[in-house]
Amino acid sequence: MKAISLVVGIGILLWGGVFLLPGLLPGALAVAENNHGHEGFSPYVDQEGNISRPTGFRQNWVHLGTWYVPDNKQAVGPGFHAVYASPGTLEAYKNTGKFPDGAVLVKEIRAIKSKLLTTGNAHWAGDVKLWFVMIKDRKGRFPDSPIWGAGWGWALFKAGKPSVNVNHNWKRGGLSNCYGCHVPAKQTDWVYIEGYPTLRPQE
Ligand code: HEC
Repeated sequence: MKAISLVVGIGILLWGGVFLLPGLLPGALAVAENNHGHEGFSPYVDQEGNISRPTGFRQNWVHLGTWYVPDNKQAVGPGFHAVYASPGTLEAYKNTGKFPDGAVLVKEIRAIKSKLLTTGNAHWAGDVKLWFVMIKDRKGRFPDSPIWGAGWGWALFKAGKPSVNVNHNWKRGGLSNCYGCHVPAKQTDWVYIEGYPTLRPQE
């Protein structure tokens, strides 16, 4: 009898484990992610203020809007520029008119494809080239880091090496001239909000 109840007992434990594990895993992962952050600030920022590239934003974040920069003589950065906001950013912005602490914006640059379709001369997004990332910091956590300034962290990742932030100073030239290129949007917290219908109150 004892042996049988032991076997049944282990059986029940195993079954319980199968049902419990999937429930517990996401919680455990969330805690693990937070431990890397600066006092739980952001899973994409370590203690020194280094920024890592968010993934899964196309599936799980909010699409704010997409810019289209045609490939012509004026174009510094031609392509489709799709912009995504981390979970919670949209609600907070709509309630307060401000980007909340820890908000992440990702701009994904893709090549332009085009073809005459039944709708007309259709243009669509091809292969990814770059990701620009901004992370909101309302507490001035990294005053000595050259990739943090004006209340944001600034990072750039290239498709060929997506795990490395190639921006070392947000005021340097070229693609790292985040500061110079974002000055026209200073009044709206350095973000070009006119391109984001999702942020507008009526939509
Ligand atoms: C050549 C000018 C230029 C440079 C350099 C530049 N930006 Fe931008 N950025 C823009 C413009 C203009 C937009 C919106 C329109 C567009 O994408 O065409 C934008 C949009 C963005 C967005 C989407 C949110 C927003 O602000 O509207 C992010 C994120 C971003 N940039 C991050 C960066 C980071 C980080 C750097 C530096 C590593 C950087 N940018 C360098 C001009 C620039």
